[in-house]
Amino acid sequence: MQNSVSGFSKFTKAEKIDWLVSNHFKNNAQAKANLERYWNTDKVLQKLHDEFTENTISNFYLPFGVAPNFLINDKMHVIPMTIEESSVVAAASNAAKFWMERGGFKAEVVSTTKVGQVHFMFHEKLEELESLFKTIKPQLFEQTKSITKNMEARGGGILDIELVDKTTQLSGYYQLHVTFETKDAMGANFINSCLEQIATTFKSCSKDIHVVMSILSNYVPDCLVRAEVSCTVDSLSTKAYSGQEFADTFIQAVRIAEVEPYRAVTHNKGIMNGVDSVVLATGNDFRAVEAGVHAYAARSGSYSSLTHASIENGMFKFWIELPLALGTVGGLTALHPMVKTALELLGNPSAKKLMQIVAVAGLAQNFAALKSLTTTGIQQGHMKMHLLNILNQFEANESEKAQLIEHFKTHTVTHSAVVKAIENLRA
Ligand code: HMG
Repeated sequence: MQNSVSGFSKFTKAEKIDWLVSNHFKNNAQAKANLERYWNTDKVLQKLHDEFTENTISNFYLPFGVAPNFLINDKMHVIPMTIEESSVVAAASNAAKFWMERGGFKAEVVSTTKVGQVHFMFHEKLEELESLFKTIKPQLFEQTKSITKNMEARGGGILDIELVDKTTQLSGYYQLHVTFETKDAMGANFINSCLEQIATTFKSCSKDIHVVMSILSNYVPDCLVRAEVSCTVDSLSTKAYSGQEFADTFIQAVRIAEVEPYRAVTHNKGIMNGVDSVVLATGNDFRAVEAGVHAYAARSGSYSSLTHASIENGMFKFWIELPLALGTVGGLTALHPMVKTALELLGNPSAKKLMQIVAVAGLAQNFAALKSLTTTGIQQGHMKMHLLNILNQFEANESEKAQLIEHFKTHTVTHSAVVKAIENLRA
């Protein structure tokens, strides 16, 4: 096959780059220079990053921003956010400031149970399987002791193992559904190691048990956190609208996201702007969080909003419930220097505390987006923040940037308006 390669993984970094640039780029020297430009001059740090994953040839930077003024459960926080999209950090900061003046965010962890499953096939009688499972269950716990010992010392471990009959969905399909408490660890490796041991012990009790796979589930509806804000409807008033008008329209926007999947996806995407950026900054697995959160948003059978809002007795309330399996020990948390900085900024939180902070970031983000959407429209604030990106795209120099930022303080930012203003200035 043209451009195929064998043994690429064994090449040195330099060999990998040479092979790539000579086979895939028009300007070899420029492509190589660009990859090398992003290497860290600190060789130890670069090696650390090279070894996070495989076939590493360069780094890919994301901005590390901070959103101050988050009052969460009566304590002030500065939230680290790793994100490339303009206006997200500004929106979070804006919402934080808004709610700081109205009592702040309240957050609580509802539950922390994680799940793993041994998926297996069995085509004999169910009673036989039930009897086997009953007999072997104590051994399933016993034989994982060497893996669970340290976790148990921290107060975690395997909570329960259940036999689940899935044969109505797939002929011969059963599960061992295992629940875990993993304390401050996200627990993926711990859970998977336990599951593989459980599977080994279990299949040894009958030749009719055919284990297909053993793996944690990223669907964690019982690892749940809730965050909310509330204030009197009157205190939402501005010169432009009354508190009642604002709250009514805001609630309508939330209701629309509750019933209309097309809107719910965008609504929840805005929430994930906040969630993912904190999850990334704190070295957690955003793919796992994304998959779990969206499955939760669709748990009724129809994809729906993750946030909800109400007015009761003159009080406006806005809240979110999110399934979040996060860790503050293990994984990248102890390895990535910026993750360590992010966690220290948050006061080295427990996993439960981090769940609260992440949920608050999601709620704040959604509040800022809905506030803009239902009042000025999103483009005004978003494009104001995006202005620098457009100017950079046109390689504006510092003097041009200063003049155009000043100009757009009193003019609406659109892509074409910025292009025109640059052309006028340069003419
Ligand atoms: P504003 O009221 O024009 O801002 O809002 P301001 O200049 O009056 O400043 C007020 C505060 O906002 C500041 O306080 C900051 O907290 C923050 P201060 O620091 O001055 O004491 N702020 C900033 N923070 C950092 N850097 C900045 C900055 N500017 C303001 N440069 C703002 C402007 C953009 C914040 C507002 O319009 C907003 O919140 N808009 C929403 C933007 C948004 O949601 N962006 C997400 C990307 S769009 C998207 O992907 C999601 C979406 O589709 C989801 C959905 O549909 O639901 C919208």
